[in-house]
Amino acid sequence: MAGNLRPSFLAITLALFMLSFFKSSLAYPCTVTYWGQYDTAGSLQDICNSHNYEYVNIAYLKNYATGSPKLNLSIHCLDCSYLEVEIDHCQENGIKVLLSLGDPGHGTQTNASKLAKYLWNNFLGGESSDRPLGNATLDGIVFEDVNPGTVLKFDELAKELKNYGPVQLAAFPPCGEGDRNLDSVIDTGLLDYVWVKFYDDTSCDYSNNNIDILSNAWLTWSSRTGINLLFMGVPESEQLVSSGYIPPDFLINEVLPFIQSSPQYGGILVWHNFSSDSYTPQIKGSACKEGKNILSWLKTAI
Ligand SMILES: *[C@@H]1O[C@H](CO)[C@@H](O)[C@H](O)[C@H]1NC(C)=O
Ligand SMILES: *[C@@H]1O[C@H](CO)[C@@H](O)[C@H](O)[C@H]1NC(C)=O
Ligand SMILES: *[C@@H]1O[C@H](CO)[C@@H](O)[C@H](O)[C@H]1NC(C)=O
Ligand SMILES: *[C@@H]1O[C@H](CO)[C@@H](O)[C@H](O)[C@H]1NC(C)=O
Repeated sequence: MAGNLRPSFLAITLALFMLSFFKSSLAYPCTVTYWGQYDTAGSLQDICNSHNYEYVNIAYLKNYATGSPKLNLSIHCLDCSYLEVEIDHCQENGIKVLLSLGDPGHGTQTNASKLAKYLWNNFLGGESSDRPLGNATLDGIVFEDVNPGTVLKFDELAKELKNYGPVQLAAFPPCGEGDRNLDSVIDTGLLDYVWVKFYDDTSCDYSNNNIDILSNAWLTWSSRTGINLLFMGVPESEQLVSSGYIPPDFLINEVLPFIQSSPQYGGILVWHNFSSDSYTPQIKGSACKEGKNILSWLKTAI
């Protein structure tokens, strides 16, 4: 018996040591947001300096099913290479910056190995003379839901990307209806994070103090095969969505205690336009339960 206890005692000590080490050098990832689409958003650097988020997804890379991918950051830039400095700044502050794949364009197929190579060389750890974000090395890729007529082979794309080198992968599925491209990649289990849109969908949304629909939808997602860390996507204001806004107090007192009891709980994605960004500071302390899931997070972070 004593012989068996010793190694586990050592393992726990080591885990605690690593935990304190990583807590001091890296922020535990529990709040995520997007940047690049709203005209009212501040700069990427502003978002990182707010320290409201540990993950920022740059939105969007478009037209990738046409064979001519194009970075489209709305009015923020045409030549976006100046963002290299801002991305470096964010990463130096422990914030991960990912690239989100938006509207694939009018093609109907993607060549997964060609696209993986493009993403690796032009945005991730590879090299190319054409790097839309300069020499910044992004931390990962986010898959979005798209027109169901398109076959995007996200499952193959994820496998190819993971073969190139360190890259974090995530998906942002709508909560209720399935999306075959996202389903295929979630099923692989290769995604580090799945952040689910719990808004604009009355089959999942919170409404009128009723948490039943929302909690059933959460349980369905958290018991699904292939989920590593699951995030609840919420809007910061009623104006941004047709349904599903959750007041901060209700999120803190009713929703978080429930979803944090799932071992898959990763955190909260806040869909916001940054002109106010008042939601996240209110919920952040509760969304980021120290130590929770930190070991499963460490597996993906190192
Ligand atoms: C970016 O996408 C928007 C919306 O689809 C479009 O109106 C705009 O022309 C695009 N900008 C560029 C530079 O392609
Ligand atoms: C995908 O692109 C690669 C080149 O990057 C090519 O060798 C391969 O034949 C293409 N596959 C298909 C199915 O078109
Ligand atoms: C990016 O790196 C390449 C190769 O190291 C270098 O030639 C190029 O000047 C760099 N570009 C910028 C914008 O720093
Ligand atoms: C951005 O947020 C502000 C404050 O919450 C809101 O008044 C405004 O309508 C929003 N803009 C958009 C485009 O949703």
